[in-house]
Amino acid sequence: MSNKVIETIKSRVSCREYSAKKVSIKKLEMILEAGKSAPSACNRQIADITAVRKSSNILKIRELSKCLMNRDVMYGASTIVLVHAPREDAFCAQDCSCIIENMMIAATALKIDSCWINQFDELLNANEAKSLEDH
Ligand SMILES: Cc1cc2nc3c(=O)[nH]c(=O)nc-3n(C[C@H](O)[C@H](O)[C@H](O)COP(=O)(O)O)c2cc1C
Repeated sequence: MSNKVIETIKSRVSCREYSAKKVSIKKLEMILEAGKSAPSACNRQIADITAVRKSSNILKIRELSKCLMNRDVMYGASTIVLVHAPREDAFCAQDCSCIIENMMIAATALKIDSCWINQFDELLNANEAKSLEDH
């Protein structure tokens, strides 16, 4: 017996080389909706999702990455989604992880490659994620 959702989950792989093409707003919104539909501890929904698509903000992230890690840890991606939650919350990692996984599976279903990047924690520590939100 085959199942489309399970096949999508099984076909997801991390991508570490991206084209310059941005994810369309429509597809990005579908991916973000999948992220927002993730379960959260006690349904408190403490995590925030910040989608970054504007070239100048993507450049800022790349520059910060080069400054903190000496390389572009985003592999040249032109659409970046930051998931962040108060660090002091007992379930911040679990809640964020559920969101990220949902979004990666949704992206796979839409034929969009993705990669989970953890090495960028310093940016979120610096509380800069929100300031990168596209307006
Ligand atoms: C918590 C977590 C952190 C990760 N951090 C990074 C990362 O910083 N950079 C990276 O290139 N991949 C990162 N990955 C992706 C893993 O390396 C990848 O999922 C793993 O090698 C399995 O490969 P696959 O995703 O193609 O199945 C991370 C994955 C997880 C779940």
